[in-house]
Amino acid sequence: MVLPNSEGTSAPRLYAHIVGWGMAVPEKILRNQDLEAIVETSDEWIRTRTGIRERRIAGERESTASLGLKAARKALDVADLFPSEIDLIIVATSTPENIFPSTASLIQNWLGASRAGAFDLSAACSGFVYGVDMAAQAIRSGSIKAALVIGAETMSRVLDWQDRGTCILFGDGAGAVVLKSSTVEGGVLSSVLRSDGSGGDLLGIPTVGSEDLDNPDFFTNGHKMHKMYMNGGEVFKFATRVIGESIEEALVKAGLTIEDLSLIVPHQANQRIIQAAARALKVDVDIFVVNLDRYGNTSAASIPIALCEAVQADRMRPNDYIAFTGFGGGLTWASMIVQWTDLKSAETRTGVLSNQRRRQISYWVVRWRSQLRRLSKSLNQFLQRINPRRGRIMRLRDKVDQL
Ligand code: UT7
Repeated sequence: MVLPNSEGTSAPRLYAHIVGWGMAVPEKILRNQDLEAIVETSDEWIRTRTGIRERRIAGERESTASLGLKAARKALDVADLFPSEIDLIIVATSTPENIFPSTASLIQNWLGASRAGAFDLSAACSGFVYGVDMAAQAIRSGSIKAALVIGAETMSRVLDWQDRGTCILFGDGAGAVVLKSSTVEGGVLSSVLRSDGSGGDLLGIPTVGSEDLDNPDFFTNGHKMHKMYMNGGEVFKFATRVIGESIEEALVKAGLTIEDLSLIVPHQANQRIIQAAARALKVDVDIFVVNLDRYGNTSAASIPIALCEAVQADRMRPNDYIAFTGFGGGLTWASMIVQWTDLKSAETRTGVLSNQRRRQISYWVVRWRSQLRRLSKSLNQFLQRINPRRGRIMRLRDKVDQL
């Protein structure tokens, strides 16, 4: 379709396609049976009430950014794009490395994505769908050409390991997609993003708020600082209501009906929530991608991880209509309809393997360059202490910065 642009001339309509995907999960597995030694619970209770059997837990040297980076590199390989071709990096997370600098900026630096803007997005378990929508809007408007959207979490670091109502549910991991602009029809067709802040006290992680303020809008309400709390029953009721409603609404926006959908990739919170959503939408539960038995609830990472596994399992065909649906803290929820397109064969790119090697070399160069910069900073500090003649020091730093 050709639309008139602001100058009155005709510009081809742009579409935002998912052209790359990747996931990364820690190696360490925590089984339900292992949890029996930590809190008063049982494998049987966890399996029957949630569907979860095991989850992954980040090792000491793993973090939200390192898992996100791994997933992003894989997604760039699938998309066969170089980091320098990425205009925007969004990391959806509830467990960022810092309040700032953002996890997205850390990943931007490690990738060497020198032309990308980067920011973190806080919409809890709905964050990935929010992020894909933001990136798709920017692509469709013509303001950017390619974006990386990452959902990454190390939930294990914010769990209260004495609270059996939450610690048995969550796991760590990351998933990423690359979105790219094209005039080929398809890609992200519609989205519904919603929030109801009046339910903010149902789940959260108090971080900077103060218990001392009288203003009831600034409270931790007796919850532990930096630890997650949740009213599971209320969140369960909320989730079963909004999944069906928001998918129906996103379908209407895309001009489709539930019969058109081939697959639903839901946030992986609880098998019973997915079953209830299937009943509400009057579809077979098999239309839902489910992998929570192996990863538990990885919050913003759960949808892109499930998407990657669905692609690996060959569950998507070109032109299939698929839905993403997420819900969680905020309260927030979001659903999106995507027409899955095989853009590679539509636009035929070649040289994937040699480009993969070039990307690996560029990551190596970026790593050494930032280590060299760090070294030069320490060296400068040292020189400054023993020799305050700043001119020479500045010249040395400038040289390294130019590398
Ligand atoms: O990603 C963010 C979105 N989060 C969600 O979507 C989570 C939504 N909520 C849920 O998935 C469920 O509400 C839970 C799995 C968290 C809890 O399941 P439930 O069926 O709602 O259980 P409940 O909280 O109503 O508790 C039932 C019983 C209680 O015992 P009594 O009072 O009946 O004696 C709990 O104390 O189960 C007990 N219980 C447990 N027992 C063994 C709660 N947690 C556990 C546990 N092990 N881990």
